[in-house]
Amino acid sequence: MGNLTTRLGRLATVALSGLFLATSGSLAEDAGNLYNTNFDINAGLRYFERQCSRCHGFDAKGNDETGAPDLTGRLTRASTEVGIFNIIRTGIPGTAMLPVASDLPDAQVWQLVAYIGSLSTNPANINLSGSLTNGASLFTNKGDCNSCHMIDGQGGRQGPDLSRVGERRSPEELLSDMLNPHADVAPRWWTIRVTDKSGLVREGLRMNEDSFSVRIIDDDANLWSYPKNQIASFERVEESTMPSYTQTLSDSEVDDLVAYLFSLRKEN
Ligand code: HEC
Ligand code: HEC
Repeated sequence: MGNLTTRLGRLATVALSGLFLATSGSLAEDAGNLYNTNFDINAGLRYFERQCSRCHGFDAKGNDETGAPDLTGRLTRASTEVGIFNIIRTGIPGTAMLPVASDLPDAQVWQLVAYIGSLSTNPANINLSGSLTNGASLFTNKGDCNSCHMIDGQGGRQGPDLSRVGERRSPEELLSDMLNPHADVAPRWWTIRVTDKSGLVREGLRMNEDSFSVRIIDDDANLWSYPKNQIASFERVEESTMPSYTQTLSDSEVDDLVAYLFSLRKEN
């Protein structure tokens, strides 16, 4: 929730600053990039291919002849999105890196920033120490992750589907998912323990809950629905059912799993 408030705050800042900034040609303030959906990244990529690739290369990995640097790793002249925005807007004086056309709308400059940002989270540009093939085998064998998680239609439903998890989690986040599973558990994955009026106890993942009823799904994927006035007692466990793997997997096994999970994307 705190996150949402900051984001809304940011939106308001940007909307306000829009009133004061000229339509284009202005330097960015530190409001963050609002143009960073997949659509924006693709628009940025297309613009990059037309206007930037002749120096930086189609893969953005730079070109010795033009002296244009690799943009897929850490940049030397900018460490923030705003910094990149300003380089694109003003160029780098005294070098071949010229400013973009001054009537190019800010939104399009931000799309370029989003595209450049996406390069450093592209698996082809990140060197992870783990082994993909070991990770894949740990997932189904020793780790037994597939008893709860599905990948491409194979596996259990006791946890989120991981078929495209590499698109939404960074390697650091994947590591923390495995080592601290109880941090930040979404309500969908809370466990609920219900005792009905006859004393029967049933436990399962929380499907939904309102003032009048609660629905849970048990380990065998049976769905149970209880009107709240028929429940004798009711307990909510806001922890993950996923165990922490700090003890059961070695550091290098965890690295292998991170490398494997990070490779799981739409294009595979
Ligand atoms: C005519 C060649 C040329 C074109 C076209 C060009 N660049 Fe550059 N760019 C360079 C050079 C050369 C540098 C390095 C300047 C320096 O730091 O000495 C550079 C540097 C950069 C940097 C800073 C890199 C860092 O490590 O800090 C960014 C970001 C960048 N360019 C983005 C772009 C984008 C986006 C476009 C297209 C809108 C573009 N460039 C078009 C030549 C070019
Ligand atoms: C007993 C069931 C269970 C097992 C076994 C299990 N997980 Fe999970 N996992 C969950 C649940 C439930 C969540 C969602 C709640 C949370 O964030 O912990 C989750 C979340 C995750 C996430 C975050 C996914 C996202 O979309 O944010 C990753 C990554 C993950 N698990 C990887 C693994 C790996 C790798 C293994 C095996 C080493 C494993 N899990 C074993 C139940 C399980």
